[in-house]
Amino acid sequence: MKRIQENRQTTSETSQYECDKCKDTGWLVDGNIFKRCECFAVKEALMMFENSGIKDENYTFSNFQEWNETSKSMKITATQYYQNFTKIMNDRQNSIALLGQVGSGKTHLTLALGLNIMKSKKLPVVYFSYRDTITSIKQNMTDEEYYRRQLDRFQNAKVLLIDDMLKGKTSDSDKNIMFEIINYRYINRKPIIVSSEYGIEDLLNFDEAIGSRIYEMCKDYMVEVQNNTSNNYRLRS
Ligand SMILES: Nc1ncnc2c1ncn2[C@@H]1O[C@H](COP(=O)(O)OP(=O)(O)O)[C@@H](O)[C@H]1O
Ligand SMILES: [Mg+2]
Ligand SMILES: [Zn+2]
Repeated sequence: MKRIQENRQTTSETSQYECDKCKDTGWLVDGNIFKRCECFAVKEALMMFENSGIKDENYTFSNFQEWNETSKSMKITATQYYQNFTKIMNDRQNSIALLGQVGSGKTHLTLALGLNIMKSKKLPVVYFSYRDTITSIKQNMTDEEYYRRQLDRFQNAKVLLIDDMLKGKTSDSDKNIMFEIINYRYINRKPIIVSSEYGIEDLLNFDEAIGSRIYEMCKDYMVEVQNNTSNNYRLRS
């Protein structure tokens, strides 16, 4: 509380703060009522990325090389999505999917998008590492309250980044959980950033209700990388 008062007195210019609204305290004061500043959610989300072992300096647009036609088109799609993001984020077609070949840079670009949306657009992005997250949700499904809270986090995230969708063995529980999340975000027009080794046909085959919603949300920004080792960055010559 002391810090807030000090900040209030000492600053008329704002450039020294990352967040001018709360002057980096994370709190807004209205009389004697304290409320979390919106920048706090972004800080928290960035911390979650860090805790998931994501080194943000590795995942930038600028260190994504255009080393073949596929990587060029992936980078163009991701960049265009980023440039249009603020304009389209409340539309039905407000999402992006990078699909197909392992090692083609799907995770790299989706993380670059997530990190830039947080750092520059100041919007929190929730990271959903498919295999780990779905396993943890399933392990705790009998705890109704915990389950609802988890779902709520992924349903209501400003932006949801689903990495490696459908990785691993999938079951009916996976379908139910993913339908609850995707359908909610579809209805409420909340963007998803998806990477998956599966193509759109495979997603439709997994579950048509889920696949078709993902398709509709992502159709303006979708790349399906051909399954071919010539598209694997790790194997480039
Ligand atoms: N075009 C690229 N330029 C630079 N690094 C890349 C590129 N494509 C992939 N990488 C790197 O190769 C590795 C594999 O990429 P990743 O994004 O994990 O692939 P995917 O998610 O498609 O399997 C990562 O370390 C990533 O940073
Ligand atoms: Mg990946
Ligand atoms: Zn703030």
